[in-house]
Amino acid sequence: MAYAAFRSIGAYAPSKILSNEDLAKMVDTSDEWITKRTGIKERRIAEDGEFTSDMGAKAAQIALERSGIDKSKIDMIICATISPDYFCMPSTAAIISTKLGISNATAFDISAACTGFVYVLSIAKAFIESGMKKNILVIGAEKLSAITDYTDRGTCILFGDGAGAAVVSATEDKNEAIIDVHTGADGTFADLLMSPNGGSGSAHDTLEQEATSCFMQMKGNETFKVAVKTLTKDVVDILRDNSIDSSEIKHFVPHQANLRIIKAVGEALGMSDEQVVLTVEKYGNTSGASIPMAINDIYESGRLQAGELMLLDAFGGGLTWGSALVPFAPLQK
Ligand code: COA
Repeated sequence: MAYAAFRSIGAYAPSKILSNEDLAKMVDTSDEWITKRTGIKERRIAEDGEFTSDMGAKAAQIALERSGIDKSKIDMIICATISPDYFCMPSTAAIISTKLGISNATAFDISAACTGFVYVLSIAKAFIESGMKKNILVIGAEKLSAITDYTDRGTCILFGDGAGAAVVSATEDKNEAIIDVHTGADGTFADLLMSPNGGSGSAHDTLEQEATSCFMQMKGNETFKVAVKTLTKDVVDILRDNSIDSSEIKHFVPHQANLRIIKAVGEALGMSDEQVVLTVEKYGNTSGASIPMAINDIYESGRLQAGELMLLDAFGGGLTWGSALVPFAPLQK
């Protein structure tokens, strides 16, 4: 039987920094308030002409090079994004494939907000285990600045831009295999976090009247409470189902939404500070890109070694949620 191995990681963050001090000049807020309530100090913002696909392609190029797998062998590209280059078509994944010089690979986007990267991992795992695909490029890429309302202090302080990518490929070695991926969704909470207009659910006159029609809106306080509960349950469930103890997790990589959420979840699960991966301070919430950007951070700082077990844990608009038990299995050790 074929198993799916997580071979490599790459990421890209735009160079332009939007600091808390910058935001305090735009809306009624302060560095002190943002730091205390979210742990975020700054976030990256893409240039006007820099699209989600540009960032996704840069992250993917790095992941490809680090994988040691030739791009001609990539047979599927999946991009998790809620800020695609174009809302209907073509898919950002298809555009990325062309930017990478990859032809004839299946390419599509998925929309699962901040849980997007865990969703694409589950899809990649299933395609590889079924034998239908062998080498899959999975990407989380977001230009959230394009759908953020910079007059709304409740949301604009949270979000940033960036991309992360990984290569998942077939192996016969069970020790290298992604152990399990859990995903779920509950649309009854859809209104907690949404971009209410711009799709087929919005009236044409709304689109004409509202320049801000596609911007994200959020009930922050309610979202916070559901996030802590859901993220904790995700981990308890996946560890129990696989008879794994939390002490066996080398790197706990939660979605980087808010330091207080991450701390509350880490404490509820008894995770030590060494286990918990944090990038929220420098990147803010980059939705589908947040988890692969965080994995790249521990890789580039030399903390992620071959064979180490990562536990990914995400939560986002939809509502969606997911968790994954992923050993790092590079071909080049
Ligand atoms: N600066 C200063 N004050 C702010 C503010 C800001 N940026 N944003 C909100 N406030 C104010 C509110 O207006 C409110 O004022 P009031 O008491 O006079 O009405 C007060 O702060 C408390 O607002 P509240 O929304 O209850 O704050 P909070 O402690 O819940 O923090 C968030 C707000 C957005 C930081 C927090 O709710 C959060 O992080 N939620 C989860 C968001 C998230 O993770 N979303 C993505 C999920 S993937």
